[in-house]
Amino acid sequence: MRDDLAPPGTTRLLGCSRRYVHTDVPERLRRWHAPRANRWERLQVETGAVDTQWLEAADVRVMRIVAGQSRWIGPGTRWRIAGMTADAAFTLAIHADQTSEAAQPQRLRADVLDQLPVVEVSSASQLDGALRGLNAGEPIRLRAELTAHSSLCDVLRDGGGTWFWHPLATCTDGLLAVVGRTVAKADLADYLGRDHALIEAALAGALAGEPERLLWLRNLLSRHLRIEEDVLFPAYLRAGGHEGWVRGLCNEHRMLQRLLPQLDEPSSRRRLLLLLDGHDEKEEQLVYPDIIARLGDAGGALARAVALHPFVGDATPLL
Ligand SMILES: [Fe+2]
Ligand SMILES: [Fe+2]
Repeated sequence: MRDDLAPPGTTRLLGCSRRYVHTDVPERLRRWHAPRANRWERLQVETGAVDTQWLEAADVRVMRIVAGQSRWIGPGTRWRIAGMTADAAFTLAIHADQTSEAAQPQRLRADVLDQLPVVEVSSASQLDGALRGLNAGEPIRLRAELTAHSSLCDVLRDGGGTWFWHPLATCTDGLLAVVGRTVAKADLADYLGRDHALIEAALAGALAGEPERLLWLRNLLSRHLRIEEDVLFPAYLRAGGHEGWVRGLCNEHRMLQRLLPQLDEPSSRRRLLLLLDGHDEKEEQLVYPDIIARLGDAGGALARAVALHPFVGDATPLL
């Protein structure tokens, strides 16, 4: 999240929350959530101090906002209230960005992908050096032009429980992936929330007409749906999770897959964007927290398996 973030043009105030104090912060604000479509939120701290967390491609960033300070929060930016002082009070105002259409993904969402430094390697020893030199909280877009990439997952798995990857594309002799390491172990909601943000970033690029981003979108989404349907939801149902929720989410997955090849049509673009926004919000607000609560200690091992789930998609030339 950029410190100087502000809406690109004029906004219209849609409403403002009541004044929240530390005893009555809604649970939804304590979970990852994000302004959707062309909405912006403005967090205004009136008294005391509010500790916020921000889900970034790099890590979970912590920020204390004190009395008199405010923050703009852009579409797709995942944040949550982590704590507040006993004397703290804040409000949250919702604004509509009047310069973009209701279902237009702001270019800002693509920043999650676009702002990552690109590291290119062409030998196994360069790959090894790149990974060893990677600091926690500083992920990269790794472009590995070598056939040894199939072992990358194993390398990350052996690196101690904080590595993660989000593969973007692969071909017979190369791989492109977001690779990083978090400071602390990330839970399922952190990893999958970040995966959502990357999918939305790829969609923003795809809708701007970038063929590379469309390829990444297909691959990121395919893998994400396989993770949920093959790994996460079965474990959730075995732990007594809501069958109706899973059925509804899987139906929405089928709709997303049907809309994906139709991005040339404006109506399909709009439906895909709004469907994805609502779907991701439901999972982050309700489903992932319930999965974590039901799985208990077993959730840690599942989070590791998910963060290093293999590439799913077609091997196509890296663009
Ligand atoms: Fe899903
Ligand atoms: Fe999801």
